Amino acid sequence: MKTLKHLFDRNSEWASSIKKKDPDFFTRLSKLQSPEYLWIGCSDSRVPANQITGLQPGEIFVHRNIANVVVHTDLNCLSVLQFAVEVLKVKHIIICGHYGCGGIQAALDDQERGLIDNWLRHIKDVVRFNAEKFEGLDEEQKVDLLCELNVKEQVTNICNTTIVKKAWKQGNDLTVHGWIYSIKNGVLRDLDEVSAPR
Ligand code: CO
Repeated sequence: MKTLKHLFDRNSEWASSIKKKDPDFFTRLSKLQSPEYLWIGCSDSRVPANQITGLQPGEIFVHRNIANVVVHTDLNCLSVLQFAVEVLKVKHIIICGHYGCGGIQAALDDQERGLIDNWLRHIKDVVRFNAEKFEGLDEEQKVDLLCELNVKEQVTNICNTTIVKKAWKQGNDLTVHGWIYSIKNGVLRDLDEVSAPR
């Protein structure tokens, strides 16, 4: 018995509507994926990579975690990155944060949440690196600023991975972008862009 029948129904409608417009769509995609973009974003259900960029299946390779963090030793994220850069040969890596991020808010308070506190430490480090920038701000401004600073920090982390450094050393066409998304109006904004060692 399918307990989530409504989702299977929607899936069947979706697959038929695509096949109606483009009968070869799934056959073509089943043979090859060649996305130009790697998206590293927050797991937040309000920030779905494909929908907000208007991209179709096959067009964007996606990794998501709480608060879009690139941890130097995270084998999951690094494996996605290596596959995207070395096998798929993506041309753009997008780190996308979003305002109102729960992970960022949690990193700014002192509540104990158990295991996730270890993950949030990486974001608390971003606060420590930039402590003077938070002086005199109210709570909402602090969250917004940390959402932006976190994106820039993760851009730096991506640029410092062995994978991106190697790609640039080989002269590959690869640009790292830092973006922020507003869940209040659905609009993306550019914060940072790096296309060679800095
Ligand atoms: Co978030």
